[in-house]
Amino acid sequence: MDKNQLISEINRLKKEKNAVIMAHYYQMGDIQDIADHVGDSLALAQWAAKTDADIIVLCGVHFMGETAKILSPSKKVLVPDINAGCSLADSCPADAFEAFTTAHPDHTVISYVNTTAAVKALTDVVVTSTNAKKIVDQFPKDAKLIFGPDRNLGNYINSVTGRSMLLWDGACHVHEQFSVEKLVKLKSEHPDSLILAHPECKKTVLIMADFIGSTQALLNYATASDKKSFLVATESGILHEMQKQNPDKEFIPVPPNDSTCACNECNFMRLNTLEKLYNCLKDETPEILIDEEIRVKAVKPILRMLEMS
Ligand code: 13P
Ligand code: SF4
Repeated sequence: MDKNQLISEINRLKKEKNAVIMAHYYQMGDIQDIADHVGDSLALAQWAAKTDADIIVLCGVHFMGETAKILSPSKKVLVPDINAGCSLADSCPADAFEAFTTAHPDHTVISYVNTTAAVKALTDVVVTSTNAKKIVDQFPKDAKLIFGPDRNLGNYINSVTGRSMLLWDGACHVHEQFSVEKLVKLKSEHPDSLILAHPECKKTVLIMADFIGSTQALLNYATASDKKSFLVATESGILHEMQKQNPDKEFIPVPPNDSTCACNECNFMRLNTLEKLYNCLKDETPEILIDEEIRVKAVKPILRMLEMS
């Protein structure tokens, strides 16, 4: 099938099966264009919690599909490629995280949404990069807090909230790739550009940024700004929506440290294709399934996040 046939078949199956397609901003442009909802991790969770569709097709990575299933257990949640994982979620195995939290029983456990259902089940409140500051700010100043798994986001939230949360030592392989050297060079070539960075980037990169925020926050900032050019230090999929909303502005992806690879693309996110999306709607597989005992524990910190957002 060619691209146009795939698009019309996906739209036909979607109507026939009362399915909704949700896509993260890091998906390839063709998938973002066919989705009913395109957003950041927080928006995807909010839509999944309130959809009346029978099937949710989550075009993103595995933990995003899990979050949708945890919130909407009666719906069938499908993902185009079950191997679309997340290096950050993988950097925090549930058994090791449990040992860490058990060693600090007087601490409240805050976990980034980029975690497995099993880690969420060990958590008091989940956050995303959009709401992490707002949620941490709601705890008393002297509260003892654990934050996992992203050390860069955790350090950033510590710095903007004046906290000293205990951090899990995890990171995202895409955001860790951005280097100060490449950014300095790019900025010297585009001195009028503003630097936008996701808080999963290293501190040395964040220090150079004019604005730090989640994918949604970066998009909103660029759209509202009267500047015309931006250097973007996050997964380059976000440029699709940035450019779509701001055709008169220039968005330049910050290159990764290793210029021999497209490391500013998340290889997990990019596993999803239009063809896999079509197949998953047609065959209703791969499906996200979660052990009910884990789901019941994991839903509490996610609902708490939605209330505190
Ligand atoms: P957002 O919370 O900005 O959607 O980021 C999700 C993610 O995976 C970042 O790498
Ligand atoms: Fe995970 Fe990083 Fe990919 Fe986001 S960009 S899904 S944190 S591996």
